[in-house]
Amino acid sequence: MTLFRLDGRRALVTGGSKGIGLAAAQALTALGAEVTLVARGEEALRTAAAQLGARWAAADVGTPDGVQAAVEAARQAGPIDILVSNAGGPPPGLPSQMTEEAWRRGFELTFLSTVRLADAVLPAMREQRWGRIIAVTSLTVGRPALTLPVSNAMRAAVTNHLRTLALEVAAEGVTCNTVAPGYTATERLRALHADPAEAERLQHRIPARRFGQPGEVGAAVAFLATGEAGYITGQELLVDGGWSI
Ligand SMILES: NC(=O)c1ccc[n+]([C@@H]2O[C@H](COP(=O)([O-])OP(=O)(O)OC[C@H]3O[C@@H](n4cnc5c(N)ncnc54)[C@H](OP(=O)(O)O)[C@@H]3O)[C@@H](O)[C@H]2O)c1
Repeated sequence: MTLFRLDGRRALVTGGSKGIGLAAAQALTALGAEVTLVARGEEALRTAAAQLGARWAAADVGTPDGVQAAVEAARQAGPIDILVSNAGGPPPGLPSQMTEEAWRRGFELTFLSTVRLADAVLPAMREQRWGRIIAVTSLTVGRPALTLPVSNAMRAAVTNHLRTLALEVAAEGVTCNTVAPGYTATERLRALHADPAEAERLQHRIPARRFGQPGEVGAAVAFLATGEAGYITGQELLVDGGWSI
């Protein structure tokens, strides 16, 4: 019996040049999918795409034009079967310090990007009666972090939007889920927790006593993309070393 293969499936992975997005793209490629990577910086994209034998396009998914460019690039290979909606996170700060501009930018980058990407890929998925929409969110959805107010709010919105969308399309072979990483060793984590002593203390508070590896989150994303995960929809899969317990 062959399990978890994605041969012949086409995936669009945004925020795919580094970190969790790249790890998801690696896992999807390993299972046989044909991947298109999207991010803003061309250099990292080129390197990642060369490693994976993937297509790539430079685009900012925080804008409508960027989303359109991302989807068009992926569609050049054929209809998109799997969408992984991911990007960088909004900048940190206390809730009382957030400007209206920061809220607007977070809304565009984290929430509307997922809505726009899903809207763009959904018609073809419904027509072929097979599709996977997966957004990378954060453990902060249910457990807000004091200094990530925009992220906390927007990722909760993404989670509930995909749960609602899941209701609409569940009978059409399309699943909608989120993968919520805990502390994962990527550039973003290193930037947010640059002090080694603080990073050490933080790891001690995680039941697994370590940060997660991007590949551990990427594998969860790839699992939700498989045919075997076809009866899982509207769910949040936490990959957090036990933090949420
Ligand atoms: N790492 C963690 O511990 C952790 C925990 C919980 C949640 N998360 C969330 O998981 C997501 C991925 O995190 P990560 O740690 O993998 O981040 P990362 O290492 O900073 O990678 C982010 C990726 O997204 C791309 N990107 C950023 N802004 C973009 C935009 N506007 N349009 C298109 N691509 C964009 C980046 O490339 P360019 O900059 O070149 O565009 C890069 O490829 C983030 O939303 C983060 O908040 C991470």
